[in-house]
Amino acid sequence: MTAAANELKPVLVFDSGIGGLTVLREARVLMPERGFIYIADDAGFPYGSWEEAALKERIVGLFAKLLAQYDPEVCIIACNTAFTLAGADLRAAFPQMTFVGTVPAIKPAAERTRSGLVSVLATPGTVKRAYTRDLIQSFATQCHVRLVGSQNLARLAEAYIRGDVVEDEAVMTEIGQCFVEMDGRKTDIVVLACTHYPFMANIFRRLAPWPVDWLDPAEAIARRARSLVPQVADAVHPDNLDFAVFTSGAPDFPTRRLMQGFGLKA
Ligand code: DGL
Repeated sequence: MTAAANELKPVLVFDSGIGGLTVLREARVLMPERGFIYIADDAGFPYGSWEEAALKERIVGLFAKLLAQYDPEVCIIACNTAFTLAGADLRAAFPQMTFVGTVPAIKPAAERTRSGLVSVLATPGTVKRAYTRDLIQSFATQCHVRLVGSQNLARLAEAYIRGDVVEDEAVMTEIGQCFVEMDGRKTDIVVLACTHYPFMANIFRRLAPWPVDWLDPAEAIARRARSLVPQVADAVHPDNLDFAVFTSGAPDFPTRRLMQGFGLKA
């Protein structure tokens, strides 16, 4: 499906799985006149443990097909693991396309922290990236930044949002490292640097040994996208352009039901 000649082009939102929905729900509010195509590269999920060169090649290859097939107005890469690795390559390979990226919110965290202790909760891939280290170097040298690479949290978030029971202990094992006490100070901000994690924020809040701000960049990403997508007077939302595509070709029933809950055909 592509937009008919008289329709506005859609917004494409991309993630390895369902995490990008945390960004899509904000983007929809700000761009009600646009159709949304949600792409989940579930055949490649999880991205967190991929070898960098292979993942980069996969993502750029996928976009060659996605752009030809769907001709979007803008692409939101709603995945830290993908964008911190392949954002520059995507922009170089497809210079005519606008890519809005997702990167760990280290700069706003460094501006807001009062204790100076900030943690970044992300996939093992995002934690390893030169991009992430550069963000710390550029914006947070005055802070103590702890990078916490979680092996299982994206998977747990997928299970949780599909309705499975997730044990507190399993979550605590993944987030416990975020809480640092040093010289009488305590971590006061945890950056949610994987788009899957905001789905579990209520659990994180309940399990946290002390209250912290859980920083979710979804709204800021949506605002950035809105600023780049032209506003068209009297535009009407198209009927047939809100759907989800899974690279596996076979989303299960709970996943399709979840997509419908977000207003996407799957
Ligand atoms: N949602 C993705 C992110 O923002 C990563 C999930 C994964 O594939 O491990 O980093």
